[in-house]
Amino acid sequence: MFGAETLDHVGIPVRDLERAEKFYMEIVGLPILTRRKNADGSPRHTYVLAGENIIGLNLPGVQVPPSPSGAPRYAIAVESETRFQSTVEKIKEGRVKSGEIEEGQSDSPLIRSFCFDDPDDNHMEICLRRDGPGGTYLSHVVFEAADLSRAARFYSQALGVEALPDDRGEKLFKFRNHQILGLKAVAALSERTRKHGRAVHVAFNVTQEDFDRMVALITEMGGRSLGDHRAEDGLRPPGERSLYFFDPDTNYLQITAHGEENWDLLSDEEKWRRITENRKKRGQGISSFDAGKKVPG
Ligand SMILES: [Fe+2]
Repeated sequence: MFGAETLDHVGIPVRDLERAEKFYMEIVGLPILTRRKNADGSPRHTYVLAGENIIGLNLPGVQVPPSPSGAPRYAIAVESETRFQSTVEKIKEGRVKSGEIEEGQSDSPLIRSFCFDDPDDNHMEICLRRDGPGGTYLSHVVFEAADLSRAARFYSQALGVEALPDDRGEKLFKFRNHQILGLKAVAALSERTRKHGRAVHVAFNVTQEDFDRMVALITEMGGRSLGDHRAEDGLRPPGERSLYFFDPDTNYLQITAHGEENWDLLSDEEKWRRITENRKKRGQGISSFDAGKKVPG
């Protein structure tokens, strides 16, 4: 059966990395996986973990107001009622903008959920799921769509995710493992959707069998291919294939079909050595941000 298998990782924009780390670790209660550096050793981004899913807190962030639509939004499912309640309490004490606990309708994939903004105005959500892989994981991401039927066609046909009943005015689709992708219809895309911020993206895992067909369908169905800069930089292990692309609303996405090895966490030194070497071969250098010369902000 054709279709994206899982939601794997997301990168969200942050302007103050220390503040974001503190918020996600101490308030939301996510463990840190690693801190990534620029070529000169200055901070670049930090990965925290929602179970096995990486949430990248990515500098330099964006200087734009919160999106009025409630999307883009990133939701973390937690494993138990106790954890849900204690996390909500901490968030409420954390001096960030938040809503109230919402009870899911009987056909909703959510038992209950709680929306809040992180200190960088990213819309976030904590939820308890009725189904899904279990434990703590990225439950869903919700994107803005200026043309909802075009976006729905794109996700169901190019990404092969399965439509679910609408929930809270959002159109939902499920991955094979029951993680979810949502679409929120908007009259105009917010600055959050249009500006992204560096390395801000949402990544899905797909099978090797589906990869080529999906790449073709992404452009046929109104997406825009952006190639694979990591392959060009010599950072893909043998057999791993990946594509960065925009959906029809310029949400920045990635699909990856893994090979035997995983080089995602190459040391920073080795990563920058390979990037510099491969770019030199192509007559290119690294940007001032990558080098660490540009002060994030
Ligand atoms: Fe990625």
